Amino acid sequence: MTSIEAAQEAAKRNLWLHFTRMSAYQDSDVPVIVRGSGPYVYDQRGKRYLDGLSGLFVSQVGHGRTELAEAGARQAAELAYFPLWSYAHPKAIELAARLAELAPGDLNRVFFTTSGSEAVESAWKLAKQYFKLTGEPGRYKVISREIAYHGTSMGALAVTGLADIKHPFEPLAPGGVRVPNTNFYRAPDFLAGDEAAFGRWAADEIERAILREGPQSVAAVFLEPVQNSGGCFPPPPGYFQRVREICDRYGVLLVSDEVICAFGRLGYYFGAQRYEYQPDIITFAKGVTSGYSPLGGMLVSDALMEPFTAGTATFLHGITFAGHPVSSAVALANLDVFEKEDLLGNVRGHEAAFRATLEKLYDLPIVGDVRGAGYFYGIEMVKDKVTRETFTDEESERLLRGFLSQALFDAGLVCRADDRGDPVIQLAPPLICGQEHFDEIERILRAVLTEAWTRI
Ligand SMILES: Cc1ncc(COP(=O)(O)O)c(C=O)c1O
Repeated sequence: MTSIEAAQEAAKRNLWLHFTRMSAYQDSDVPVIVRGSGPYVYDQRGKRYLDGLSGLFVSQVGHGRTELAEAGARQAAELAYFPLWSYAHPKAIELAARLAELAPGDLNRVFFTTSGSEAVESAWKLAKQYFKLTGEPGRYKVISREIAYHGTSMGALAVTGLADIKHPFEPLAPGGVRVPNTNFYRAPDFLAGDEAAFGRWAADEIERAILREGPQSVAAVFLEPVQNSGGCFPPPPGYFQRVREICDRYGVLLVSDEVICAFGRLGYYFGAQRYEYQPDIITFAKGVTSGYSPLGGMLVSDALMEPFTAGTATFLHGITFAGHPVSSAVALANLDVFEKEDLLGNVRGHEAAFRATLEKLYDLPIVGDVRGAGYFYGIEMVKDKVTRETFTDEESERLLRGFLSQALFDAGLVCRADDRGDPVIQLAPPLICGQEHFDEIERILRAVLTEAWTRI
């Protein structure tokens, strides 16, 4: 048996892939990625793929960066591990100070985690304990948007707005409340064509939810700057400003879940900076290390921290590997690369070209909407461009799982064909990409989507 065959056999026998129908691999190979270089990754057989999703919205600086690997190795040799429970270590201190410097406004306190779900979980727990400490113990509910993904742990899942991935695990933590998302392409008829009015309506739906639930019971609103799930919904103009006003009016915290949108994805360190709003908490993970080591966390405002600074007050929450020294060292090296190579400038300088290149696909009958910002785009596929009719469940199943996902991968592009909302293809290339990579993405999408149309 060759080593490739042995790895395939072991993968099928012993490995459990996440959010994956394992039966899909009974008669076909598990895709095994063995190495990466820049925006490309390579499989076991040496075949090259353009990583159009940065792994999973993670690899901001691209693959194969020895400076990040070496920063991790140096730290492991010096101090591989020590907890942030009562102690500190230099790299966590340095990283916290640097993140506070980069973050908007008075988000000066960093609570580290190891992942995005833990960051969301931590933000909800902090909101609940904060209100108990400040004399409003009834505030525990969280408002978030339909189809929004905020993670998989029990608390984060209760914030998540995707019914299908919640049902098997009910009952979840009580208090999750849903409001409409900002999918302008699917705006209600009475708002179609007026993005500002749509934004006002969507923000006001948050106010209506707060009033319906009772303001004294609502702790926080969780929103992504650009909502990922459903296929990249940017905020309509004025949306976040109005949400901020509403949160202030009712004493509700605004959490900007930037697990995807931070660290250059939208051309800024934080999405809140692009859309000019001030959150009370920012949750982050993924791109903070570009994936060279796992790390997440939340940036918390001085005001929220204040009740925890005196007497016996303690945030009763902790995670063994949070703010791991190796991950903290890697994050610092990652931020050095951002600065040295002006990655934010690269995204801002090229984002119009990225959009324009993807918009060329509008000449295909299956392409209904191209939407997003920075290096973060969704392409919605439709059965009828004029009526915006979407596919039936059966057609969507046949199109996405039966054809598109595999065909795009076979054609050398890593991206995501997703139908958790309407069917979309999602793209989030590494921030080092430029026109040649956009052209490669467009070329592959054009060929595969053209073929897909003949199979519907
Ligand atoms: C907005 C958002 N929040 C939270 C999470 C959960 O992060 P993790 O998978 O690191 O737990 C994700 C993951 O994609 C996300 O996109």
